[in-house]
Amino acid sequence: MAFAVTSPSRASSAPKIASSLSSDLKVPCIGAFQPSDRPHPTIINLSTRRASAVKPVFAAEARRTDSVVPLAATLSASGTEKAVRENVVVEEEEKEDYEQLAKELENASPLEIIDKALAKFGNDIAIAFSGAEDVALIEYAKLTGRPFRVFSLDTGRLNPETYTFFDTVEKHYGIRIEYMFPDAIEVQALVRNKGLFSFYEDGHQECCRIRKVRLLRRALKGLRAWITGQRKDQSPGTRSEIPVVQVDPVFEGMDGGVGSLVKWNPVANVDGRDIWNFLRAMDVPVNPLHLQGYISIGCEPCTRPVLPGQHEREGRWWWEDAKAKECGLHKGNLKQDGSVQQNGSAKTNGLAKISDIFESQNLVNLSRTGIENLLRLGNRKDPWIVVLYAPWCKFCQGMETSYLELADKLAGSGVKVAKFRADGDQKAFAKSELQLGSFPTILFFPRHTSQPIKYPSEKRDVNSLLAFVNALR
Ligand code: ADX
Ligand code: SF4
Repeated sequence: MAFAVTSPSRASSAPKIASSLSSDLKVPCIGAFQPSDRPHPTIINLSTRRASAVKPVFAAEARRTDSVVPLAATLSASGTEKAVRENVVVEEEEKEDYEQLAKELENASPLEIIDKALAKFGNDIAIAFSGAEDVALIEYAKLTGRPFRVFSLDTGRLNPETYTFFDTVEKHYGIRIEYMFPDAIEVQALVRNKGLFSFYEDGHQECCRIRKVRLLRRALKGLRAWITGQRKDQSPGTRSEIPVVQVDPVFEGMDGGVGSLVKWNPVANVDGRDIWNFLRAMDVPVNPLHLQGYISIGCEPCTRPVLPGQHEREGRWWWEDAKAKECGLHKGNLKQDGSVQQNGSAKTNGLAKISDIFESQNLVNLSRTGIENLLRLGNRKDPWIVVLYAPWCKFCQGMETSYLELADKLAGSGVKVAKFRADGDQKAFAKSELQLGSFPTILFFPRHTSQPIKYPSEKRDVNSLLAFVNALR
């Protein structure tokens, strides 16, 4: 089904508002992205006039102010004229079939696509900039000669190099990035309850939701369109089908409701190498982390460099299953099956209802006593491989097939394959006695050693598991 979005007139009252705000025009535009649900001490003069504004983010006056004097945007004199012209265009009521437009633009260059996006949405569109190679979007936007806005989600956990890079980009382009920050109360609650690194234990979804997704939602509520740096080649599992433009399948724009936001992915079809050729050719500043082997860059604790030949996505949330490597910003990329179930909800809503996994006649289901005995035996007759799991955990579900295959392959070989359900009441014991960090944890109990050896890799295909067993048996 083709989605269509109506673009109502927004510019008709703009001059009135802009003139009434003329005294505020020097206020840094970052205020436009401030949450309105609580006053912000540094924007007292803004919040005074915003007190009457209903729209939470990117409130109407800020948008219109920017379209005249875009404090957060690169703008030349001709750009200003263009901005005014664009407002006139936006005024016209128009209906767009974005599926059709995506087809038409499938072979267009990123420059053409961004130009089209900026022309169409004027000041109601912004580039989502992560601080990595998506700086290419900013360069393309500059090349269009149109005014543009850039926002970034400051999770509070970015690398120092990324913050420095933001500053470099601001200076290089003469722009102000409109930073969004997580809600302090929510971050406080998470960290006080679960510590600073809970994502290593129970998955990154909860922290990402608080430090990324909610602020993105807030930012997008003030826009009618956004531009991302997603590419198909970034993640064959989740991004292989992204179109260059689409009605946002997840988030809402300022008009509210399904279909109120348009998502542009101008580099969807561009190869990562071509992005880098472009950055080099245009002498664009890049995040210094790229010089240290980082490709995809997110938060510091959840990003690491990759080795030659490794896929860039392997440097993100490396302790988790490849299928789960979307943090929620681009949730629409995930197919609606079990793989998108979030840890938190699955755990709290009906652990008992979820059926067990790793069921096979070649696999031993260990009880607490069983695994305690295994731990105690210093001189085992047979070596054992045991997975510590929780049936609701999507990473455990993700490795079910390979683990069952392993059990089949090792049947009769002298190596016992087992599972131990280590969530709920068993979790504390598994953490203190069995090296449980996150689910799944795989342990090998060699024949003559009392201490189990923890499988160190996130590769859980049958060959990798078999190599581990064969190296230790
Ligand atoms: S993520 O979902 O895994 O974090 P990724 O790092 O691949 O996303 O980036 C894809 C695009 O999402 C970026 O080009 C950018 O448009 C947007 N994005 C990701 N992280 C941020 C961020 N912190 N702030 C703003 N946009 C972001
Ligand atoms: Fe939290 Fe890591 Fe997600 Fe950043 S990437 S928000 S630190 S879980």
